[in-house]
Amino acid sequence: MSTPATPPVERVLFTEDQVHARIRETAAAIDERYSGRDLKMIGVLKGSVYFLTALTRALTIPVKIDFLAISSFSAAHGAHGLVRIAKDLDEPIEGEDVLLVEDIVDSGLTARYLLQTLAGRAPNSLGICTMLDRTSRRLVPLPIEFRCFEIPDHFVVGCGLDHKQRYRNLPYIAVLKPGVER
Ligand code: IMP
Ligand code: MG
Repeated sequence: MSTPATPPVERVLFTEDQVHARIRETAAAIDERYSGRDLKMIGVLKGSVYFLTALTRALTIPVKIDFLAISSFSAAHGAHGLVRIAKDLDEPIEGEDVLLVEDIVDSGLTARYLLQTLAGRAPNSLGICTMLDRTSRRLVPLPIEFRCFEIPDHFVVGCGLDHKQRYRNLPYIAVLKPGVER
């Protein structure tokens, strides 16, 4: 199967400049909130890597990072929203101020599972920081401390977000063409 030369993008939702401007504002808010504290940011592989990197580079406070990876089972397997940890954190989070960093919170099922799992490890505090928030599709209530953008109900790619593992490296956030199979 060949890969299309141009990404199947219908329109750009947020340009590279807009994304960076919001990331800088979000970093400033995190700087203020966590000043003098012991912040650890946890990225969910792979989607959040681009966002976490840009965000932490824009911070002025010291920060530690760690990663975890999850596998989700699709609705086709009759277990919508069921996730498990495929790669766990390298270090404990007990007593630390933890921010879970997500590329997008959609139904919220992934983030809720991760929050519940991490809460069981006795961090001092635990919050969510997401680049994109699609509240119109939320299935479970979820407190979001920091978010860059609320987005409409269109499948998007870029800045870490993929379609079948491609287009994560696009420097902007774009809506995929209709008809491109999810
Ligand atoms: P949730 O459990 O429904 O909140 O799903 C979150 C995960 O679904 C994200 O971490 C993404 O991997 C994926 N996802 C949801 N919406 C999109 C999208 O528009 N583009 C790419 N991936 C998405
Ligand atoms: Mg994905």
